[in-house]
Amino acid sequence: MSELDYDTILKGIKPSKQEHEEVMKLSGDLVNVINDTASELGVEVEAALVGSVSKGTWLSGNADIDILMKFPLDTSTKLLKKYGLEIGHETIKKMEGAAEERYASHPYVTGYINDYYIDFVPCYDIKSYKELKSAVDRTLLHTKYIQANLTPKQEDEVVLLKKFMESVGTYGSEFKVGGFSGYLCELMILEYGSFKETIQNAALNWKYGHTIDLMNYQTGGNFKDPLVAVDPVDPNRNVAAALTLQKMSEFVVAAVNFHQEPNESYFKQKTHEMDEEILKELFNNRKTKTVLITFKPPNIPADAVYPQIKKTEHSIVRMVESEGFEVFGSASWTDEINEAVMLIEFEVWELPVLKKHLGPKIWIREHQKRFLDKYPDNAWIEEDRWVVGVPREYTQVLTLLSDLMSGKKSGYLQFGKHLKNRIMADHQILDVKNILDSQSNTSGFIKFLYEYLHPGDKIFR
Ligand code: CTP
Ligand code: MG
Repeated sequence: MSELDYDTILKGIKPSKQEHEEVMKLSGDLVNVINDTASELGVEVEAALVGSVSKGTWLSGNADIDILMKFPLDTSTKLLKKYGLEIGHETIKKMEGAAEERYASHPYVTGYINDYYIDFVPCYDIKSYKELKSAVDRTLLHTKYIQANLTPKQEDEVVLLKKFMESVGTYGSEFKVGGFSGYLCELMILEYGSFKETIQNAALNWKYGHTIDLMNYQTGGNFKDPLVAVDPVDPNRNVAAALTLQKMSEFVVAAVNFHQEPNESYFKQKTHEMDEEILKELFNNRKTKTVLITFKPPNIPADAVYPQIKKTEHSIVRMVESEGFEVFGSASWTDEINEAVMLIEFEVWELPVLKKHLGPKIWIREHQKRFLDKYPDNAWIEEDRWVVGVPREYTQVLTLLSDLMSGKKSGYLQFGKHLKNRIMADHQILDVKNILDSQSNTSGFIKFLYEYLHPGDKIFR
């Protein structure tokens, strides 16, 4: 690897002195307001700053401030939820922000205050994973572990790794991405020492099932995931559990590419000239048929929506393939509010009226008789097997899709739980070219189509 000027790269992606001070000031104020609010209510709670802000590992412009409200272990779940929301709302009100309720392992409130997003998450004040009552409780232990073990120099290494991951499209453990969480990036830097060493190891040494076990718990064998990172604060948890094989592979290939030819562009978002005309031309040149099924997404948390749309998409693909059509590729996208789209690109979307139906071997006399009773006229023999031509149920994939999505054939389809009724009641099936003709598409949707057509774009620079 030749040498890049990492100091200059860091200047562009690390928070400025001003941003740093602003975020730390706001975080400190929030902790105080929460503690004051709690004592006004007579609730025994202590606020703690956690997440990347507390660890000095956030990307400039990306500060989401994570604050835990620590409740004593003997608090009932009911009261924890009740006071968690109450104190969160009250704090946001005092700070003149906007509130929105979310859901993780229990409900919590997110505030938008002075241009920053803040999560107010109630948890139990645990000292060890053995006291764990809900998944968020670990966050406290993570924060302490990273604060105690990551050196200031390594904070910068984490920032480089996160930015690299973001640019190549593998950052974020939420279902939308299925990539690497911030905490996982931090553990990788602790394991390898620096960004460069991390890249080098991923590029040259990682294999399916690679294991990182900083505390040498030797529990890695309990996990069947493509990457295993035993949580230093909990031997029973794989920090990389949410990482998909797809995103692990993309990261490894990006690491190989970067390792061969380090380049500053790996720390920047790629931008493209893109509009409907260009996309239409690209789809046209493929001579495939690309169909979009659009509907309004259900009003449930993002982490629930994405897997449901994916599940439905995969089920449709399996279904149309079992009817003889051939799928070249598929993808889905949603803005999480108004629009959801499943895209299916067909190699074969039209089939002849006849299809071959295989019968029994001629040696099985009993089955042969039944077969010939059913198809007396035009069955024939191929080697030692009976074959007959029968009419296909569907010769056009559009008709099949329309029947599937309106319920005429839906018994076969696995919809995501919250999707079925919604899609049945209201959806559209359109050719991508017609949608692109309409010129009224959102930039998010255009980006989705661009990324579908250029799947390797982010990992090669
Ligand atoms: N966390 C976790 N596993 C996840 C997501 C979150 O353990 N899949 C915990 C981590 O302890 C993390 C904290 O929740 O530090 C806050 O989550 P998040 O904001 O997603 O991560 P950050 O570390 O703050 O990184 P970022 O810079 O992306 O905000
Ligand atoms: Mg965070």
